[in-house]
Amino acid sequence: MSSDNTSSDTIVQTDDGVQIRLRTPDDWHVHLRDGAVLQGVAFHTAQQFARAIIMPNLDPPITKCADADTYRQRILAALPEEISFTPLMTAYLTDAIAAAELQAGYESGIFTAAKLYPANATTNSAHGVTDIKAIYPVLEQMQKMGMPLLVHGEVTSAHIDIFDREAVFIEDVMQPLLADLPELKVVFEHITTRQAVEFVESAGTNVAATITPHHLMINRNDMFAGGIRPHLYCLPVVKRETHQRALRQAATSGNPRFFLGTDSAPHAQSDKENACGCAGIYNSPVALECYATVFEEEDALPNLQAFASENGPKFYGLPLNNSTITLARRQQTVASVIDAAGTPIVPFQADQLLKWTFLGRQ
Ligand code: DOR
Ligand code: ZN
Repeated sequence: MSSDNTSSDTIVQTDDGVQIRLRTPDDWHVHLRDGAVLQGVAFHTAQQFARAIIMPNLDPPITKCADADTYRQRILAALPEEISFTPLMTAYLTDAIAAAELQAGYESGIFTAAKLYPANATTNSAHGVTDIKAIYPVLEQMQKMGMPLLVHGEVTSAHIDIFDREAVFIEDVMQPLLADLPELKVVFEHITTRQAVEFVESAGTNVAATITPHHLMINRNDMFAGGIRPHLYCLPVVKRETHQRALRQAATSGNPRFFLGTDSAPHAQSDKENACGCAGIYNSPVALECYATVFEEEDALPNLQAFASENGPKFYGLPLNNSTITLARRQQTVASVIDAAGTPIVPFQADQLLKWTFLGRQ
């Protein structure tokens, strides 16, 4: 597809130094929460991204068109009027969800996709699907309509080692699912393993994956460096360095079936720094700076625009954004804590020095 700013002019030398200019990216996986926290976090996503796939794991979850529509309005109301941002809403699949609800939601444009959480896999997933076979009529309807299924790919059995849960999911759930529904459009969300990279590379063009900034920047050693670091704990948990390397290779390769999804998942500082700290990394304040750091380290900045701004919309069948964003090669120290409308939240890379600074959207 032709583009106004091609990959070759991603890096620009200006009087103010080196800049990255990109077609405005989209975030294909984000948690914006609700209530006061939504007021505090929505802006961070909306300033860097033109659109975002909004996760439905509220409590109670978003299972109905009407609930998605009012949640969408609350997101827009949490943003300054001058900002142009499109929340793309998703339905939370339960054992009981009706194919007709998804069909109505997808055909009317309220639902862009549906999210599969295996029951109890992660935060607010208690209402998730207990047996994927039980929702086959719903998935068949989605396949027929071309509605993407967004998958949290982890088995939940307590006896499966937490570091193996994604690889086992591929064999036990993903492969049989795609054998039964070979045309189903699937986004394997926040992949964390070499096995997931290889699975997506060898699957059909109806299968893609999102990759987070944190799974590109850290591995499980970082989670335990000098002590246990609750702000680096998320699900699927970060894996060993070989997997991190496979993810970095996949993200920066230019393969159109890997694209940006931050999985930014804010939790109050007190819920993370806790005897039972919850899973989720809040990266949206510095998401593009982190991705740019990784692409630069991998000597792949010319592929950043495809990963951040083109592969996602092409997979979803949506138009590319026309505006652009700029990052400057200027150091910044990330805040220690962010006040999200009264809730202190520790961002990813807190107190760390980053080489890039987001300047804005043009
Ligand atoms: O770490 C995570 N946090 N993983 C998820 O799948 C959910 C998310 C959240 O909602 O906090
Ligand atoms: Zn998520």
